[in-house]
Amino acid sequence: MLKIILLGAPGSGKGTQADLLAKRFSMYHLSTGELLRQAILNNTELGLQAKMAIDSGQLVPNNIIINLVKHQIMKVKDNCGLIFDGFPRNLLQVEMLDLEGILIDWIIYLKVTDQVVINRLTGRRYHPKSGRVYHIEYNPPKLTGLDDFTGEPLIVRSDDQESVIRDRLSIYHKNNAEVIDWYKTHFPKKFVEIDATIPFNQVFEEITHIIKK
Ligand code: AP5
Repeated sequence: MLKIILLGAPGSGKGTQADLLAKRFSMYHLSTGELLRQAILNNTELGLQAKMAIDSGQLVPNNIIINLVKHQIMKVKDNCGLIFDGFPRNLLQVEMLDLEGILIDWIIYLKVTDQVVINRLTGRRYHPKSGRVYHIEYNPPKLTGLDDFTGEPLIVRSDDQESVIRDRLSIYHKNNAEVIDWYKTHFPKKFVEIDATIPFNQVFEEITHIIKK
């Protein structure tokens, strides 16, 4: 079954595209960030371990993330496609996927500038229970500040404060180059770079075009 990794900066649109792909192609959307946020919301042990790192824009330790991803992979049925969103983020995580023998069909790199990231993340609104994501300008809810499906209030994610966004970006830039280089070197024909500064429906069309090849 189809397996895709979405790479890209915070706010590049990984979650948005993964959601659309999961619905269109009936794939499982494995978002490490969303799993951690749900764990925090539910006050689980994992949530307690991850909260401080997430709130301050740092990476959650590799051993926690790797266990989480292994567990999720085991849960996914063999006949279901899989989209990795927010994983892998460094070479140790890349290595884990490789060692698990997960064969990836496409590595799609959503490229944006830092200015686009700031603009998107400061305007993002989030529905904690469902993980639904909006943007005040590019994807607004029907009623300002409220989730379209439940009518519950939307929030600003704790790590979407501008100072935290800058820290997340700097960590991203520190790790991203080696992850990109690894995939470009090992899977040159499966690695695709997409200009993700265009509207999200157009990004989705491009991705769809690629994976239908
Ligand atoms: P995570 O949730 O993965 O955060 P991230 O990678 O920083 O990505 P974001 O969720 O911020 O953005 P996105 O690319 O999904 O963009 P979105 O589609 O929402 O991780 C959070 C934290 O968890 C990390 O900081 C770390 O602490 C921890 N963590 C997670 N994974 C980890 C790992 N593997 N290792 C260690 N720690 C880990 O879009 C953003 C906004 O833009 C939205 O408002 C959306 O509506 C809008 N938008 C999307 N596309 C477009 C478009 N084309 N045009 C205009 N607006 C758009």
